[in-house]
Amino acid sequence: MVKICCIGAGYVGGPTMAVIAFKCPAIEVAVVDISVSRINAWNSEQLPIYEPGLDDVVKQCRGKNLFFSTDVEKHVAEADIVFVSVNTPTKTQGLGAGKAADLTYWESAARMIADVSKSDKIVVEKSTVPVKTAEAIEKILTHNSKKINFQILSNPEFLAEGTAIQDLFNPDRVLIGGRETPEGAKAIQALKDVYAHWVPVERIICTNLWSAELSKLAANAFLAQRISSVNAMSALCEATGADVTQVSHAVGKDSRIGPKFLNASVGFGGSCFQKDILNLVYICECNGLSEVATYWKQVIKVNDYQKTRFVNRVVSSMFNTVSGKKIAILGFAFKKDTGDTRETPAIDVCKGLLGDKARLSIYDPQVSEDQIQRDLSMKKFDWDHPVHLQPASPMSVTQVSVVWDAYEATKDAHGICILTEWDEFKKLDYQRIYNNMQKPAFVFDGRNIADVEKLREVGFIVYSIGKPLDSWLKDLPAVA
Ligand code: NAI
Repeated sequence: MVKICCIGAGYVGGPTMAVIAFKCPAIEVAVVDISVSRINAWNSEQLPIYEPGLDDVVKQCRGKNLFFSTDVEKHVAEADIVFVSVNTPTKTQGLGAGKAADLTYWESAARMIADVSKSDKIVVEKSTVPVKTAEAIEKILTHNSKKINFQILSNPEFLAEGTAIQDLFNPDRVLIGGRETPEGAKAIQALKDVYAHWVPVERIICTNLWSAELSKLAANAFLAQRISSVNAMSALCEATGADVTQVSHAVGKDSRIGPKFLNASVGFGGSCFQKDILNLVYICECNGLSEVATYWKQVIKVNDYQKTRFVNRVVSSMFNTVSGKKIAILGFAFKKDTGDTRETPAIDVCKGLLGDKARLSIYDPQVSEDQIQRDLSMKKFDWDHPVHLQPASPMSVTQVSVVWDAYEATKDAHGICILTEWDEFKKLDYQRIYNNMQKPAFVFDGRNIADVEKLREVGFIVYSIGKPLDSWLKDLPAVA
């Protein structure tokens, strides 16, 4: 029986391995982690991450051919294929701080693999890493092993949170990069055989190592660039009276462009886009390609601009101050159908409003109070470390209350900011909400999900990103 071990039981390691176990009953899959609480949660009724469909897949395989364990060394030693899916945060100190990837966790995982291995292994990079990481990992493994043969493969993950199970069941493509040697080709084939249990072979792309590593950074940069492009247009739409939804619909109808990822919003978030672009920028700079670096940096700058613009719009609309005013925040996760808050635009928007002394009442159906308080008090990039290495008990932000109901959050509020596109926010009784708010009552829709006309009929003053402005807002222009 082929044995697979995955180091890192996070958003990637957990779901990907659960799907491999589900689709390949003859393969034994162990997912290991240094975080005891994470592993306990994977073994409990309440999984550590929320992902539609994940519970079912895990329940069907757990205890049969899918195991979650903290006994990292035992499972690595026994495995034929070791996936590494640990954190690769942005460095906060030293050379490349604020841009380069911090490979501390990756390196320690590689050293451990070398230490405990007694048989040949295929080591698979699942984490997103800088180009040429495989070379460094190869050196660590070969210099520390006792004549054991390690083959390194790059197999970046393209799943999107919120649709992870669907994406894993039916991926657009699976990418496997390896050495262009007979041993490399054999390793590629072994991993291909695993995916071929359910992925059509024409969707399994095999490349050299560096192409696979770079393709992941490139794919995320392209996706984020589309969002920044439409967000840049949204600012121009507001200035000219055009409607960004109409513009992106017309643009997306062009088959060369396509309709996906063209929704204007308060900005992109998630653990990957910003981190991977910063990493790409750093690699470009290291290779003397400053123009290329500047080009990609602009994608992040526009994203930051969009969040600042949103906060300025809120403050300027409400007579240029939100000091002491209650603002309801609907949605904190970086997108719907996930409880993930890593780099969510809600953090910067909330911090911006708190900077102007607002009182915030936050509701998200999937995010806990503890998580929100941690996010609002943590330093930038600190989130991307294993939980037990994060600051123990961050100060809680006193002007913030977290509630479990949108009606409670909006009661007596002066304004509402919709920051995540949860479906339930479309179905709220806005008349009831309006009746219980201070007047004038404002809605700032950072996701363009509200029915603007209906809300205006109810009596709200409405700002919707990239849409023709309310006359109220036209008279109070926001300077970004
Ligand atoms: P995560 O933070 O959810 O999980 C990483 C896990 O690795 C943590 O549970 C941590 O305790 C564990 N870990 C760290 N060092 C370890 C070690 N030495 N031994 C055992 N366990 C260790 O991170 P996530 O989101 O799963 O990301 C992992 C990698 O995958 C990152 O490189 C990320 O950029 C990449 N990625 C993430 C995607 C996403 O949607 N979250 C999508 C595609 C790639």
